[in-house]
Order: sequence, then structure tokens, then C-alpha cells
Amino acid sequence: MIKIPPEYKKGFTLFLGSKIDLSKKVLIPRIETEYWVKKALKEIKENIKKDEDLKFLDIFAGSGCIGISTLKKIKNSHVDFIDIESGAVSQIKKNLKLNKISKERYNVYLSSFFNKLEKKKKDISVKYDVIFANPPYVAEERIAEVGLSVLEYEPLKALFSGKKGLKHIRKFLGSAQGFLKKNGKIYLEFDPLQVPEIKKILKENDYKKAKFYKDQFKKYRFAKIEI
Ligand SMILES: C[S@@+](CC[C@H](N)C(=O)[O-])C[C@H]1O[C@@H](n2cnc3c(N)ncnc32)[C@H](O)[C@@H]1O
Repeated sequence: MIKIPPEYKKGFTLFLGSKIDLSKKVLIPRIETEYWVKKALKEIKENIKKDEDLKFLDIFAGSGCIGISTLKKIKNSHVDFIDIESGAVSQIKKNLKLNKISKERYNVYLSSFFNKLEKKKKDISVKYDVIFANPPYVAEERIAEVGLSVLEYEPLKALFSGKKGLKHIRKFLGSAQGFLKKNGKIYLEFDPLQVPEIKKILKENDYKKAKFYKDQFKKYRFAKIEI
């Protein structure tokens, strides 16, 4: 029998010191994600101006682990969360309560990509200082490399994104620049094999600057992207 991941058995995990409930069976946060989020938050904190309010978007939010760490570690932050799954939306709300985040500091949207925000944009400008994105990016053609317990227990829609794993990244980068403030930044997680293709997508969409970084296992895993 395939073993249930211990995080689902316990019902929670820790992410940068915050308790993250997983009872709705959202994706279990990965240590590679924790690694880059820690670096990103440190860098953002170091560059923050006194009393500056920063507006963040955690898109493809799942458990909400990225945005919740942001709210806990950055004092004057506001975070919008987006996920396409209603289970994830209730999981995020549960985790916000669990971590005692006050209601005026966040919004949670059930939305595919930026759809809900596009509607809002007609009335007010919706722009962010920072967008965090950990989209589904596993290539369907590499399904044989995915662990059996992942395939059995974790939400497959949180993992796979077309043959090469790039469907979500391509669509996301196609519209994300419209939701960034002038000096806004995107932090994007991906598969190490996708670097050349992501560079092409960035060029096609006129992004001006991108820096690629390795994770704790010395594999390219995330990029900081600017417009
Ligand atoms: C790789 S998981 C990331 C979860 C979490 N951010 C983390 O780092 O652990 C991707 C998430 O994207 C969501 N998702 C998939 N397609 C989406 C779409 N079109 N729009 C918004 N969210 C989507 C899935 O439901 C899943 O929760």
C-alpha cells in the first residue's frame, strides 16, 4: 500500500515557522518553496522604506503558505490570494484565521489566473509591489518521475501543466505585467529544465529584467522578474 504523506496524517505542516493546516488536502508546501520565499522576504524587508505599505499577490496560493508567511514577516503588508479550487480558498481562509491575521490585511479570490482581478480593474487600479507565483509546472511527459504517494494523495491539478509543464507559466507571464506597479517584481518558481523556455517567454512578453536562482539542491528553481 502507498503510504499517506505524514503531513496529511498530522493534518498540518510548518512553513517558515507558521502552522499551515492541510485538512482540505491542498498541495503540501515543499522545502524548495520555503527556501526561496525566505530569501525573497529577507531581500524585500531589507529594501523596505520606513512606514512603506506593500501590496502582495500570492497567486496559485494552495494552502496560502507563501502569503501567510509574508503577512507574518512583513509588518505593513497586504496580501491578495488567488486559487482556482474552492477547497484551496477555504484552506487559505482557515490558515489566515489559524495564524491570527486581521481581516483588513487580505482578500481571498476564487479565480482562474487574474480573471477576478480583471473585473475589478474596470473600477479601480489593481497593482502589486510583489507577485509570488508557484504555479503547477510538472511536465505531463515526465509523470513517471513523480513519486507514487504524490500521485496517489496530492491534488494533480496543483502539479501538472501540459506536456512540458509550461502552460500555466506561459499564461501567467502573458498578463502578470499588467498587475505590477512601476518597480514591481515577480518571484516565480519553476522546474530547473524550464529555464531556456522561460527566458524565451519573458522576451516575447517584453519583461526587461530577470535573474535566475538555484535552490538548496543547487538546481535552478526560481526567478526574480521585473518590468
Ligand atoms: C504548485 S501549487 C502551489 C501551492 C502553494 N502556493 C505552495 O507553494 O505550496 C499550485 C496551485 O495553483 C492552483 N491553480 C491551478 N490552476 C490554477 C489557475 N488557472 N488559476 C489559479 N490557481 C490555479 C492549484 O489549485 C494549486 O493550489
